[in-house]
Amino acid sequence: MTAVCFARKGHEVVGIDTDLDALGKIQKAEPPFFEPRLKEYLVEAVTEGIFAVTDDASANARSELTFMAVGTPVCEDGSIDLTHIRNTAEAIGRSIRDTTHYQLTVVKSTVTPGTARTVVRPLIERESGKTAGMGFGLCSNPEFLREGNALHDAEFPDRIVIGSEDAVAAKKLESFYEELHGEHMPPVVRTTHENAELLKYANNAFLATKISFINTIANIAERTPNADIQTIARGIGLDERIGPEFLKAGLGWGGPCLPKDVKALVEFSKTVNYNPELIKSVITTNEEQNGRALQAARKVLGSLKGKRIGILGLAFKPGTDDMREAASVPLIQELIREGASVAAYDPAALDNARKIFRNDISYSRDSLECIDGADCCIIVTDWDEFKAIAPKDFIERMRCPVVIDGRRIYDVDRYSKAGIRLSAIGLGPVARSP
Ligand code: UDX
Repeated sequence: MTAVCFARKGHEVVGIDTDLDALGKIQKAEPPFFEPRLKEYLVEAVTEGIFAVTDDASANARSELTFMAVGTPVCEDGSIDLTHIRNTAEAIGRSIRDTTHYQLTVVKSTVTPGTARTVVRPLIERESGKTAGMGFGLCSNPEFLREGNALHDAEFPDRIVIGSEDAVAAKKLESFYEELHGEHMPPVVRTTHENAELLKYANNAFLATKISFINTIANIAERTPNADIQTIARGIGLDERIGPEFLKAGLGWGGPCLPKDVKALVEFSKTVNYNPELIKSVITTNEEQNGRALQAARKVLGSLKGKRIGILGLAFKPGTDDMREAASVPLIQELIREGASVAAYDPAALDNARKIFRNDISYSRDSLECIDGADCCIIVTDWDEFKAIAPKDFIERMRCPVVIDGRRIYDVDRYSKAGIRLSAIGLGPVARSP
């Protein structure tokens, strides 16, 4: 994403990776994953010859700026796995060993505090025979791209965070971004490596906290006559100190970043002798939230054995085909375990779903086919096209019109009055006046 944005602004970009499959696709200007507008940007950059890819790390010798954007998965215990960071730092070091021009390495990957200073720097120094701050520059520069909005976020970031102990390196990176963003240059936070690294974790942990918080209030609202989380979220979101974003109650937060980063922050805290109770309960609250749809289904249907359940939405959020840590995965696994027959549909993630569930579930061609003959339908991802399913579609097609709105996409009055048995996240029972 970052690469095509740099290329679009006229920089010559070389993408270096060991994933030959992804490289092959990019060479043909095919995005290796789904992201709106990426294909268009990629075709432009590849055909104009300003974005090329290779698996040869020595190609980095020619670069002025090197962005490390490798994955930082979590180990079994939740701590960060720095294998790719180490391998890449070594490869960068080797590639700049004999170069004579100034080269700046920028750590974009999300890494725990101390990684740039104590892992990346010594490895580049060892392999290159050069010293950071003299032979080469090193900056930490976390990114905050959202899937589904990644190109927009890369072109119009809210802020740029630059961590470095080297003023020349930090200035060079800031100038690069000034030229890139021009009149849209956002505020810059110039700081230490550790602040930049911790700031990224704090950012994701805060977003996760906001969602777990609103889901907690949603659970209280569900048990409170005449309460509705949507009104409560709107009301508190109007407080400028709180803000309206990330207050949408649902089946929990997932994806490739929030879950792994929040867990890594907990594990990192242990290494500095701190027990982050708040962050830990943000995680457990999220895990419990996932079971909310199952509880609702059991409440209406009793045993789920032999029941046909339509799952609308498999991706961890709309606008992506990514199913990493998606709410749909543990939900479907549990439905299968309880003997339900699952039909699933997603506008983008069906291919990924097939790799996970194989023949254990059936895959529908569209949302209406998914609800055909179903005893219950669960909205797991808030794709726009699901909002277009009219009450009569549910009534005419389902065996019984039980809908669990896990993302609050339907107008409760309209769907309930039409005869749908709607169970919505964060909606309390209707109390009658005595
Ligand atoms: C996140 C961060 O937002 C981004 O800054 C960082 O760079 C990468 O991680 P992303 O993984 O694309 O981005 O997902 P995001 O849009 O943050 O959503 C995460 C999850 O929270 C999704 O499962 C989404 O459905 C859920 N969510 C989001 C809610 O349940 N309620 C909300 O109000 C917002």
